[in-house]
Amino acid sequence: MTASTTLEGDGAEAALLEGFESTIAHNDRIEPRDWMPEGYRKTLVRQIAQHAHSEIIGMQPEGNWITRAPSLRRKAILLAKVQDEAGHGLYLYSACETLGTSRGELTEKLISGAQKYSSIFNYPTLSYADVGTIGWLVDGAAICNQVPLCRTSFGPYGRAMIRICKEESFHQRQGYELLMTMMRGTDEQRAMVQESVDRFWWPALMMFGPPDAESPNTAQSMAWGIKRNTNDDLRQRFVDMSVPQAEALGVTLPDPELKWNEERQAHDFGQPDWDEFMAVVRGNGPCNAQRIAHRRAAHEDGAWVREAALAFAARSHDTTTSQEATR
Ligand SMILES: [Fe+2]
Ligand SMILES: [Fe+2]
Repeated sequence: MTASTTLEGDGAEAALLEGFESTIAHNDRIEPRDWMPEGYRKTLVRQIAQHAHSEIIGMQPEGNWITRAPSLRRKAILLAKVQDEAGHGLYLYSACETLGTSRGELTEKLISGAQKYSSIFNYPTLSYADVGTIGWLVDGAAICNQVPLCRTSFGPYGRAMIRICKEESFHQRQGYELLMTMMRGTDEQRAMVQESVDRFWWPALMMFGPPDAESPNTAQSMAWGIKRNTNDDLRQRFVDMSVPQAEALGVTLPDPELKWNEERQAHDFGQPDWDEFMAVVRGNGPCNAQRIAHRRAAHEDGAWVREAALAFAARSHDTTTSQEATR
């Protein structure tokens, strides 16, 4: 390659980068056919994949209670909720496919442990109150994280988030309504709710990721318009939203440092156990091995469906081709 063609190549790349940066600066969307820097593509694939895996693995803790729901009504609600999460996973895998990474590849990376999912789903569900607490706190934290992502710079991701957020608000309401019903019940039911909130509060705060000072990728993700708020901002928003809801329910949030700060017009609160968070992220949470083993078994049990679908598609293709040949 001569010096002049290299220069031309560099010039073309610089022009593409300029176009990309101006799209970001105008808050317009980057679409799959647009040129994008490799780092942007990789960051998106990692983030969307982690999000998709969280939706799919997140079906397990609640799916655990479908056969033991206390009434037909609760069972119908829970079934619908868990099915919604499957749908969220599929929208997100599809968004990732527009970046050139197939769902098959992503599933392999999930079950081999190469890609992560939200640490919250590595905690067990020990009582039916957990179904309510997950809806209230876990879907509530997901909403805080995801509403700003409706404005994320990558088009297919932002559009998937708009649909997903509508369903997440339904999930949060159903969880809250379940807890409210239990709080109006017996002392034993109220104790079940409190015990469940005690277990899920801190892991819910961890869902926003490590503190900003220890989140090295945040600045670049914000510059690219992928993330719109920092982890600590979103965590604060979640705490401020949850405190009045806990009061209305009549439960105590298990944080002695939690109190209103008049000056900041926000709540002060304690820090989650970040060592526990890191241990869960590294695979040593209470249910990591079980969640992955379950997902792997479901994937392997479904191999015949994928083979049959491929064989059917191939045969349909052959039939079409031979019909065309005889025409
Ligand atoms: Fe979801
Ligand atoms: Fe949800």
